[in-house]
Amino acid sequence: MSTLNLQEICKDMIALAKSAGIEISEKKNTADIVTTTDRGVESHIRDYLASEYPSFDFIGEESHTGLAITNKPTFIVDPIDGTSNFVHGFPAVCVSIGLVIDKQPTVGVVYNPFLDELWYAVKGFRAFTTTRGEPSQRLPLTPRPLGGINSACIAIEWGSGREGPNFELNLHVFTTLARSAASGGKFVNSLRCIGSAAEAICRVAAGQVDAFWECGCWPWDVAAAWCVLVEAGGVMADVHPGLWDVSIDNKRYLAVRAAEAGGRKFVEEFGGVVGERRSTYGPLTVVDES
Ligand code: IPD
Ligand code: CA
Repeated sequence: MSTLNLQEICKDMIALAKSAGIEISEKKNTADIVTTTDRGVESHIRDYLASEYPSFDFIGEESHTGLAITNKPTFIVDPIDGTSNFVHGFPAVCVSIGLVIDKQPTVGVVYNPFLDELWYAVKGFRAFTTTRGEPSQRLPLTPRPLGGINSACIAIEWGSGREGPNFELNLHVFTTLARSAASGGKFVNSLRCIGSAAEAICRVAAGQVDAFWECGCWPWDVAAAWCVLVEAGGVMADVHPGLWDVSIDNKRYLAVRAAEAGGRKFVEEFGGVVGERRSTYGPLTVVDES
C-alpha cells in the first residue's frame, strides 16, 4: 500500500466529484427523480473507480449490501449527501468520496456543486478548501481558541429514526444543549441543522461551526469529511467519556474543530451531556426494543 500515490488519487477523486456534481446540478430538484439521481450518480462514480482502481473495494450508500469494511483500500461514497436539501432546492448538497485504508480515513473529497465549494485532504498533508475556482486555502480558515459548549455553535441532525433509544438520546442531548443553565442546560450559543453531515463536518474543519454531533448517520456520510477534519487539526470522537478511538462504522460521531489539547475538554464536557445514556450504536450499546 505504501506505493499508492495518494496525491494523484486525491486529484482523481476531485475530478470525479466535480463531474458527478455537474450531473447533480443539471437535475431538477423534485422528489420523484431523486432516487434515480442518487443511483445514477453513484453508478457513474462506481464505474469510474472500478475501472481505474480495480483492486480497491467500494461501498456506496445506494448499492451497499452491508458494512463489511476491511483493511483493504476502500472507497466509501455518498453520491448525494443532503438528499432532502436536494429535493427542497436548499443548496447544502454534496458528493462525498472517501478513501479508507486499514479502516482509517486516508483521502477525503467533499464537493458541493451548487456552491462550487470543495474540501479535500490527504492523510498527513493538511486539509484545504476552494470555492468557485479561487486559490485553495488551508483549513481551518481562521484558527482561534475553542471555548466550552456554552459559547459554541454546534451542528446537529435529527436523522430519520424518530423513536427508540437513539431518538431519546437525541432528544436529551438537543434539549440539554438548548436549555438555559437555570433549567439544567448548557445554553449553547447556537444549534445548526445543515442537512448534510459531510458538509457540516467540513464546516467544523473550516472553523465555521465548532462541532458536529449525530447519533445515527453512516460511514458514507462521514468517511471523506473525517479525513478533512483530522487534517485540519480537528478530532472525531464518540460521545461517551473515554471513547476516543471511534471506528469508521460507529454511527454515532462527535466532530470537534481544531483546539488546544485536541479538543479534549470540549469532548469531555459533551460526554457529560450524554451521561450514562446509551444508543444502539458503537461499543456501548443498549438493545433497541422499540
Ligand atoms: C443524510 C444527511 C443528514 C444526516 C442523515 C444522513 P443523505 O444523508 O447526511 O445530514 O442527518 O443521517 O443520512 O440521506 O442526505 O444522503
Ligand atoms: Ca445519500
